[in-house]
Amino acid sequence: FDAVDVIRTKRDRGELSDGQIDWVIDAYTRGAVAEEQMSSLAMAILLNGMNRREIARWTAAMIASGERMDFGKLSRPTADKHSTGGVGDKITLPLAPLVAACGVAVPQLSGRGLGHTGGTLDKLESIPGWRAALSNDELMRQLEDVGAVICAAGDGLAPADKKLYALRDVTGTVEAIPLIASSIMSKKIAEGTGALVLDVKVGSGAFMKELADARELAETMVALGTDAGVKTVALLTDMSTPLGLTAGNALEVRESVEVLAGGGPADVVELTIALATEMLAAAGVTDIDPAEKLRDGTAMDAWRRMIAAQGGDPDAELPVAPEQHVVNASVDGVLTELDALAVGVAAWRLGAGRARKEDPVSAVAGVELHAKPGDTVRAGQPLLTLHTDDPSRFARALDALTEATTIAPADGPQYRPGPLIIDRIT
Ligand code: URA
Repeated sequence: FDAVDVIRTKRDRGELSDGQIDWVIDAYTRGAVAEEQMSSLAMAILLNGMNRREIARWTAAMIASGERMDFGKLSRPTADKHSTGGVGDKITLPLAPLVAACGVAVPQLSGRGLGHTGGTLDKLESIPGWRAALSNDELMRQLEDVGAVICAAGDGLAPADKKLYALRDVTGTVEAIPLIASSIMSKKIAEGTGALVLDVKVGSGAFMKELADARELAETMVALGTDAGVKTVALLTDMSTPLGLTAGNALEVRESVEVLAGGGPADVVELTIALATEMLAAAGVTDIDPAEKLRDGTAMDAWRRMIAAQGGDPDAELPVAPEQHVVNASVDGVLTELDALAVGVAAWRLGAGRARKEDPVSAVAGVELHAKPGDTVRAGQPLLTLHTDDPSRFARALDALTEATTIAPADGPQYRPGPLIIDRIT
């Protein structure tokens, strides 16, 4: 095979053969296909697409570039969840211990945030002592003993994806559905989970702004998982407004602990229970009510054990921002819009996220919401509190929020927010 022939095939809207796909992924991982050649191929795929067979083969080739884990020796079934990313999406934090408390083991290999969406590992690192890096042996032991692990994915899983994702990030080729689907699913299939629930976000704060695109991504990923023998289900969920009342690392940990204590914002609780129910059913457990495990404290017990097993102190005070700035409502009315992307960008500019992979993140930075779409507000009432350790960041964060909120007259047409869970794809 020859890299230029492979590029020409896709450039001219042809189908890549199994042999071409296997070769190009392997040769790229070994360094025998150059970055500029893979960059050109990725752009041809973004523009001309791949069919189901090509996507499945591409995914299999990326899995074959590294190791595969095997949870077959565990005493309980496994289920994992993947979210395509959103603002205030802390669901993994309460969800993993909740599902563990229901008897299904959760091997959650997570990433760090880049851009306006937060990373699960960044959030947990705001807990004093907690560490993200575990060896495969430590991971297995914790899955057996505690039932839930949230840790960094090792370098051995789908190394082709690691290299390709870094390239896509700097060549304008992230937003290709075949490449997103194969990237996510190669890592989840290689991880070895028995069941997988996908939370595919749609709206301003998500990768997919349009429902049709989110649906296509969900259907592609469900087909890839199912064909690989992983019981896979997807929920399409709203990301036009942030989830819960916080976006930022320590802020989101605090809210997650409230949910585990039986409280917390209604939307976070609703989505946590819906995803837990799907994970349990996909793992074959249908006789346990996850809501009960939030009420009776067993999910909280599992959280405490999960955090302590990775060196964290579940009783430690979480850090609080030294600098806070409150944004008030300008008029009376009904809040009809609180834009997820604007809040995500503001949290990022306050220090919660990073612009480059090497950048540090602030544990305390972020945005706290005091109202959600559908709420009645009064002029002068606090809408948002911005948190940071560097007050010079307020101005740029406020710039991001200038068009973030819409308040409609209370006597206008009645406003009803859309559903959080939009559809379910199997
Ligand atoms: N997340 C991934 O892991 N890969 C993508 O391509 C996009 C989001």
